[in-house]
Amino acid sequence: MKNFLLSTDTIDMDGIKCFLTAIVDITERRRSEDKLRVLSDELTQSNKELEEFAYAASHDLQEPLRSVTSYLQLLERRYTSSLNEEALEFIHRAVNGATRMHTLINDLLAYSRIGTRPVALEQVDCVEILETTLDNLYRSIKENKAQVKVESEMPVIQADRLQLTSLFQNLISNAIKFRTEKIPEIKIMAHPNKTHWHFSVSDNGIGIAKKDSQNIFNVFQRLHSRAEYPGTGIGLAICKKIVEHHGGKIWLDSEEGNGTTFHFTILK
Ligand SMILES: Nc1ncnc2c1ncn2[C@@H]1O[C@H](COP(=O)(O)OP(=O)(O)OP(=O)(O)O)[C@@H](O)[C@H]1O
Ligand SMILES: [Mg+2]
Repeated sequence: MKNFLLSTDTIDMDGIKCFLTAIVDITERRRSEDKLRVLSDELTQSNKELEEFAYAASHDLQEPLRSVTSYLQLLERRYTSSLNEEALEFIHRAVNGATRMHTLINDLLAYSRIGTRPVALEQVDCVEILETTLDNLYRSIKENKAQVKVESEMPVIQADRLQLTSLFQNLISNAIKFRTEKIPEIKIMAHPNKTHWHFSVSDNGIGIAKKDSQNIFNVFQRLHSRAEYPGTGIGLAICKKIVEHHGGKIWLDSEEGNGTTFHFTILK
């Protein structure tokens, strides 16, 4: 079936008002819009299924892994005197591997949980959120002598309290972790625009090369070895998901060696 649109316009020709009416065939446009809608619904559904799969898989993987880890630890404890050094070293490596896998699975669970649970929107005061965040990071702030300054008024916004805390916590802990020999200086700001609140977290740390400014938001994507900086590479993937769940975007400005500013927006 064909779709038509009746479009009417008035034009002035030497003082004489003329009405122009056109019948436009919009069948193709409608068809493309319908196709896009179907594709977008399919994508949403398959993302949801993928998230549920990741959650179930990581949850079910925990149990067998726990058993592997505990038997390895039992071997290590009971047979220390009867095994030679090489065998003990192998067991030690296996325990390390299993512990690391446990961390990865936990991180994956935390990531997929954001997608499988509904966002609990409420009025939250960002001052309180930041207080909780800084409390949670107390040890790291103290050990690094980090200076965290809130440089603008913090708003009350519609958000999920736990997710917003996790967002600030990931960004501020990164700002402390990826430091140079300078004392870490972290500045937090918030400004309103028409539709969103625009937040920023900036640091004076090691910075990020332009070519990496997108891929670091992917799961388990890191730019350094664990020996240089600890972590699994899940923090920014979690931040991206949280921000998108709040109708916003996340991006960064940086210069290698010269600090980084992470920006994110939250729908008003
Ligand atoms: N403020 C920052 N300054 C410089 N590099 C950063 C900063 N934040 C993130 N990065 C880079 O982006 C990578 C990904 O960050 P992300 O927070 O996802 O992982 P992580 O901190 O390494 O591990 P995790 O957050 O799981 O403990 C980091 O490994 C680091 O290379
Ligand atoms: Mg991190």
